[in-house]
Amino acid sequence: MLIGLQNVTFEFGARVIVEEATWHIHPGERIGLIGYNGTGKSTLLKVLVGQYTPSVGTVEKSKETTIGYLHQDLLSFDTNESILEVAMGAFEKIKQLEKEIEELGNILENSSDEKLLHDYSDKLHELEVLGGYTIHHRTEEVLHGLGFETADMNRPYKEFSGGWRMRVLLAKMILQQPDVLLLDEPTNHLDLPSIEWLEKYLLHYQGSVVIVSHDKYFLNRMVNKIVELYQQRLHIYSGNYDFYEQEKAVRVDLQQKAYENQQDYIRQNERLVERFRAKASKAAMAQSLMKKLDKLDRIEEPELIRPNLKINFSIDKQPGKIICELKNVSKAFGENIILDAADAEINRGDKIALIGANGKGKSTVLRIVAGTEPYSGERNWGHNVDESFYAQHQLEALHLENDLLEEMKAARSGKNDLELRSLLGAFLFSGDDVDKRIKVLSGGEKARVALAKVIVSKANFLLLDEPTNHLDMHSVELLAEALNNYEGSYLLVSHDRFFISKTANKIWEIEDHKIKEFKGSYQEYVEWKERMEKQKRKDDRSQSIDDRKAGEQKNKEQVIKKEEVKVQEPPVNSQPSTVHLDRDQKKELQKIQRQFQKAEEEVNKKNKRKAELEIELGKPENYSDHQKFVSLEAEYKKVMQDLATATSDYEKLFEKIMEMEGGA
Ligand SMILES: Nc1ncnc2c1ncn2[C@@H]1O[C@H](COP(=O)(O)OP(=O)(O)OP(=O)(O)O)[C@@H](O)[C@H]1O
Ligand SMILES: [Mg+2]
Repeated sequence: MLIGLQNVTFEFGARVIVEEATWHIHPGERIGLIGYNGTGKSTLLKVLVGQYTPSVGTVEKSKETTIGYLHQDLLSFDTNESILEVAMGAFEKIKQLEKEIEELGNILENSSDEKLLHDYSDKLHELEVLGGYTIHHRTEEVLHGLGFETADMNRPYKEFSGGWRMRVLLAKMILQQPDVLLLDEPTNHLDLPSIEWLEKYLLHYQGSVVIVSHDKYFLNRMVNKIVELYQQRLHIYSGNYDFYEQEKAVRVDLQQKAYENQQDYIRQNERLVERFRAKASKAAMAQSLMKKLDKLDRIEEPELIRPNLKINFSIDKQPGKIICELKNVSKAFGENIILDAADAEINRGDKIALIGANGKGKSTVLRIVAGTEPYSGERNWGHNVDESFYAQHQLEALHLENDLLEEMKAARSGKNDLELRSLLGAFLFSGDDVDKRIKVLSGGEKARVALAKVIVSKANFLLLDEPTNHLDMHSVELLAEALNNYEGSYLLVSHDRFFISKTANKIWEIEDHKIKEFKGSYQEYVEWKERMEKQKRKDDRSQSIDDRKAGEQKNKEQVIKKEEVKVQEPPVNSQPSTVHLDRDQKKELQKIQRQFQKAEEEVNKKNKRKAELEIELGKPENYSDHQKFVSLEAEYKKVMQDLATATSDYEKLFEKIMEMEGGA
């Protein structure tokens, strides 16, 4: 076991988060930690890393176990340090050592103490053993792998968008190479390519992983064990998320049946007790029956308790036909151009999803529309438009020291305390909860407060930046429903395809620094994209056929089939220059020519296998089968290596033959 909880109970004041939890994390395990918003998942991770101490029970951890922990509030972490420095934070020990060496060096300038000198050279040695001279280089390598340019390395961390910040922190953790990774909602803020990158990394990662996530697709691919925190208890399921769903239904069903049976039994016996009681002779029996019933271990009714947010967006007044228009808008951060003379228009009834990769400027566009970001060009509001902005950096938008009620009052809706309390109740904050300070809220709870603030405004136009981040799956569904019923218009940014497909009637994409609009749902957009791709491929193909026809007339050899080795005509039997060779040399040449042919076959064979594997790796069913995917990918790597070796052999032999034929 690497780390674990033994009979742990943890509470915040009177609120029990988890009771009698026992959970051991073993090497190589891939665990999804799930549960509704606010059940205590993040708290549990903090207990594991020692930030919180349980009131009962122990956290067990072997001394050597190293832990990498990615916390949920990463947007609250802000620094002027460059991303290189932030990522190099992984090498705390080395940096400490460097500091000690420098200090010792300073002292040694004016002293010749034997012992100090000894210390100094010991430390230098240790630094070398720890790889202290390569950390700079290694860090840069990992950051490059995550898509950062060399020019980015020295830019301050705070200049980067949420998705890119997440990557910096991931890089730091990767460099630490811990035995256990604890990831608290790692896919929040990440775009699809980065999620795919993370999935790849995790698949090859040797240690154990615990992932808190509300994303079932991600969980299905990444974990083979689920730990659910539900009603203050840990429930363990040995499978992925789909398995958990099925198995949970079975368990609930079984418990329901057991519960009903027991209730029947209790009722029967209670009737007997009633009857016996009436007769003096049977009073003793009635007594003992009652005792038996008292002692009975009662089975609880397994009613599924789900948090049901009551989200109800409503508007105060109808706006005019045009909500907002952007004309000739340009925006750049230094050399990074986001928009260049872009136009766009938002009409009443538009429900727009703005999609695209991290860093393309989605949040920036939202802020430009909201007016919280400077730009050049024109932005015109329509008639009677009331907008409300749900910012991505919720933590920055909320006031951490406020309690819930104060925070709601700050929205200046004109509602009184009672009304605000009841609104908070709809967002699942009841009773004492409203006295909680914002800073202690869980990720999902903060998101709920921010949503409640949007709702209280009764705006007829909403700007929503990643509103599903931190929300549990059930709440995401409820939010989508509420947005469907909303009479107003909105512009939202989300990476959640399920959510976009449920909520948008138009798609915006930032392309070539312009805002491109697609009128239709996400589904239609995807289909349209696919058609365009197909059309493009067809065009390319007919283009290449035309080229070939033209080429054939001019020069046969111009067309090279892509999969085949692109080398000059093999020199076998080419030039009859072998006449210059003596017998032994000829023999040698023939031998090499045979080897050459073999090498060529080998290269073609590997190329063929490579193409087959690429097709296999592209099939979605192979992604859901973890074992198969891993083995396919391993084979693919091997084939690529073999191919490199075979190609290099082939080329060497080719050169040799050329040399012998031409040179001798
Ligand atoms: N320091 C604290 N003092 C009091 N209550 C706290 C404190 N920290 C967290 N809580 C409460 O404990 C509960 C569990 O919080 P936690 O952050 O662990 O939830 P979570 O399961 O991670 O939720 P989410 O899915 O929303 O991230 C929440 O109701 C939260 O408000
Ligand atoms: Mg959490």
